[in-house]
Amino acid sequence: MKAAVHARYGPPEVVQILEVPTPQPAAGEVRVQVHATTVTRTDCGMRGPHPWFVRLGAGLLRPRNTILGMDFAGVVHAVGPGVTDWQVGERVFGLSPEVYGAHAEFLCVSAAGPMARLPAGAAFHECVVGEGAWYADTYLQKLRLGPGRRLLVYGAAGAIGTAAVLLAKATGASVTAVVATPHMDMARSLGADRVVDYTAEDFTAIGETFDAVLDAVGKTSYFRCRRLLKPGGTFAATDLGPGWQNVWLSLGSALVRSERVIFPLPQVVRARAVLERLRGLMEAHAYRAVVDRRYPLAAIVDAYRYVETGQKTGVVVVDVVAG
Ligand SMILES: NC(=O)c1ccc[n+]([C@@H]2O[C@H](COP(=O)([O-])OP(=O)(O)OC[C@H]3O[C@@H](n4cnc5c(N)ncnc54)[C@H](OP(=O)(O)O)[C@@H]3O)[C@@H](O)[C@H]2O)c1
Repeated sequence: MKAAVHARYGPPEVVQILEVPTPQPAAGEVRVQVHATTVTRTDCGMRGPHPWFVRLGAGLLRPRNTILGMDFAGVVHAVGPGVTDWQVGERVFGLSPEVYGAHAEFLCVSAAGPMARLPAGAAFHECVVGEGAWYADTYLQKLRLGPGRRLLVYGAAGAIGTAAVLLAKATGASVTAVVATPHMDMARSLGADRVVDYTAEDFTAIGETFDAVLDAVGKTSYFRCRRLLKPGGTFAATDLGPGWQNVWLSLGSALVRSERVIFPLPQVVRARAVLERLRGLMEAHAYRAVVDRRYPLAAIVDAYRYVETGQKTGVVVVDVVAG
């Protein structure tokens, strides 16, 4: 099969399309023929690697998993011994957060892992939004959102930000989205109650306070946002912050049994439930993918270069099967 392989760490150009053996499903696994996948900030981080400590888990000198790609949508192609809950030919979407491998024509995943049936009527490329939703869910579930609760999402145009707006609106919470001018209409179309253009005004001086502020893109800080928080409000971070401040502030908050700053990590055990919820929301037309650019697998290096600008909107799709 064809796969995008990076045998060493480095810039996008280390990724090459090569012929590699097609994986065989072991007991309890299914093989998926991948139709669509994404290039994400995670893939860029794993390939770089950055931050430097990615090497501790991904391989000190060279990458252990040479095929990246976490999000996939495709068709069940074969099932391993003991698999009864998936049938060959079923249309599925899922995540491979531990071994990656979706930048390829085929990938084997655990039958019990994060995978769900494709929403009725959805195209493959519309369903590779699992990673952003899984990350967003990680923060939102800690924020106890629901009717009457107010959330501000800073950086609402990225993969995590768009998912956060959509998932928060689905709880009935009020959502203010902070984006640059070109993304204001897109943020409104996701259902944001108020959209603030951070290039035109100081988003911390809009005269409102919130139960929670989510920095969905790692470009602001607790110290900048604290005046937006109601007493008892929470600042949720998706990135380390300057000098790793989000790590220290969240540890400090936890020490005094406060949730003033949180920096939760996504849990694989929750991912399947997130995908099932996405399927339900998509079928109810309450969730839609925000797809920026689409690239064929052969042009995945260009996809990496674009994602690394930090300016993509929603997800960048790689079509493994044309169209
Ligand atoms: N290292 C990892 O493994 C890893 C994995 C996943 C996520 N993360 C972190 O999670 C965060 C979000 O990831 P993502 O994939 O959702 O991001 P993303 O999709 O790359 O975010 C891109 C969006 O960020 C917005 N943006 C850029 N600069 C901004 C600024 N100064 N202020 C506000 N918005 C800005 C842009 O919209 P506008 O034009 O509207 O500004 C752009 O559409 C990042 O911090 C990323 O590093 C890290």
